[in-house]
Amino acid sequence: MIDILPTIQMVRRAGMIDLTWGHPATELLPVEEISRAAAAMLDRAGIEALTYGADQGAGPLLDWLRTRIARTEGRAPAAGEIVITAGNSDALEQICALWAHPGDVVLVESPTYHLAVRIMRDHPLELAPVVADEFGLRIDALEAAIASLRRAGRRPRMLYLVPTFHNPTGVSLSPERRAVLVELAAAEDLLIVEDDVYRELTYDGPAPPSLWSMAPPGVVARMGSFAKVLAPGLRLGWLTGGAALVGRLVSSGLRDSGGGTSHFAAMVVAELCASGRFEEHVARLRVAYRARRDALLSALAIHLPPGCRVSMPAGGYFVWVTLPAGLDAAELLPRAEATGVSFLPGARFHLEGGRGTNALRLAFSLHTPEELAEAAQKLGEVIGEN
Ligand SMILES: Cc1ncc(COP(=O)(O)O)c(C=O)c1O
Repeated sequence: MIDILPTIQMVRRAGMIDLTWGHPATELLPVEEISRAAAAMLDRAGIEALTYGADQGAGPLLDWLRTRIARTEGRAPAAGEIVITAGNSDALEQICALWAHPGDVVLVESPTYHLAVRIMRDHPLELAPVVADEFGLRIDALEAAIASLRRAGRRPRMLYLVPTFHNPTGVSLSPERRAVLVELAAAEDLLIVEDDVYRELTYDGPAPPSLWSMAPPGVVARMGSFAKVLAPGLRLGWLTGGAALVGRLVSSGLRDSGGGTSHFAAMVVAELCASGRFEEHVARLRVAYRARRDALLSALAIHLPPGCRVSMPAGGYFVWVTLPAGLDAAELLPRAEATGVSFLPGARFHLEGGRGTNALRLAFSLHTPEELAEAAQKLGEVIGEN
C-alpha cells in the first residue's frame, strides 16, 4: 500500500475554532485570478516562463514592484537594490546563509515570530533578546544589549524585527522609535532585517512607513511577501536592501545553478499585478480581515474577565491577550480545547524562558466573524473559571 502524503501544511481539527494558524482565509485565496493570469501570461510569454529565470528574479515583476514601492513608500529601490525571493522565510534563510557567519550574534525583539527563530538557529546564529512593549521594540533595551555585547568584545551582526502589525502581538513600532532606531542602526553599522510581511493588511488607514524607506542605503534589508496578500503557495516575495547585500544574494551559487527563485510564480504574479487586479484583491482582503478583527475585539471586550489586557492591532492577523498575573496560558490551553477553541501560548514567542507565560496569541485570519465571536465567549468562560 502507498501512504497518502499531505498536500498542505495546515491540519484542520474537526469542531475546533483554531486560532493557532497565521494563515490566510482559504475562501479569500484568489484561485480564479491566478488561473486567469497564468493562462494569459503563458499565451504571451510562453517558453520565457518555463525556462530558468534571471538570477535577480523575473524582470516584469521587479519592474512592477519598483514602480509600486516608489508610489506607496516615496522611495524607489534602484535596479540593484531589489531581488525576488521565495517569501520572507526564504529571504531570512538567504541572509543568514550568505550575509551572516555561524556563531554571529543576532539581536531579536522579544516576543518575536517564533519560526524566524528556528531559521536563524539553523545556521547556527546566537540570538540575543531585546524586549518590546506596547510601542514595539524598546530602544533603551537595544542600546543596553549593544553595550553589553561591546563589553564582551562582540558586535551584533544584525537585528531582526517585525515593526509593522507584529506577529505575535499586532503592535506597530511607534513613529518616534522608528526614527531613533534607524539613526542608531546607521551609527552602529547594524543591519536591520525588517520583516514586513503584513504591510498591505492595514485596517485603519495607511501603514506606518517602512524602516527601509526611512533609512540611508544599506542600513535596512526589508523583506516583503505575497504570502499574506495573494497566496502562500506561490512561494514568492522580494527584498529591498543595500546593493552589497542584494548583490550577494543575486550572485549566490543557488541562483547561478537554479536561476531566480519561483520564476513561473513570479511571471504569473507580474501578469496579475499589471492587470490591476492586485490592488482590487488587497482592497477586498482589508475589508474582510477588518471585519474579523473587529468581531474578535468586540467579543473579547464583552467576554474576557476583568484583569485581561488585549492588544488593538491596526493591521495583520494577530491579537495578543495578557491574562491576569498568575494565570498560565499553557495550563489553560487543554481546557480551552475541550470547549472547542485553540490558541498559541505566549511563551512560544519569547527567547527568554519564563517570559510570556501569562499571554496568548489569537490569529483571526482563518475564521468568520461569527466563529471568532463564539471563540471569544468560550475563552472568556475558561479564563473566568480561575
Ligand atoms: C512575521 C512573519 N514573517 C514571515 C512569515 C512567513 O512568510 P513567508 O510565507 O513569506 O515565508 C510569517 C508567516 O506567518 C510571519 O508571520
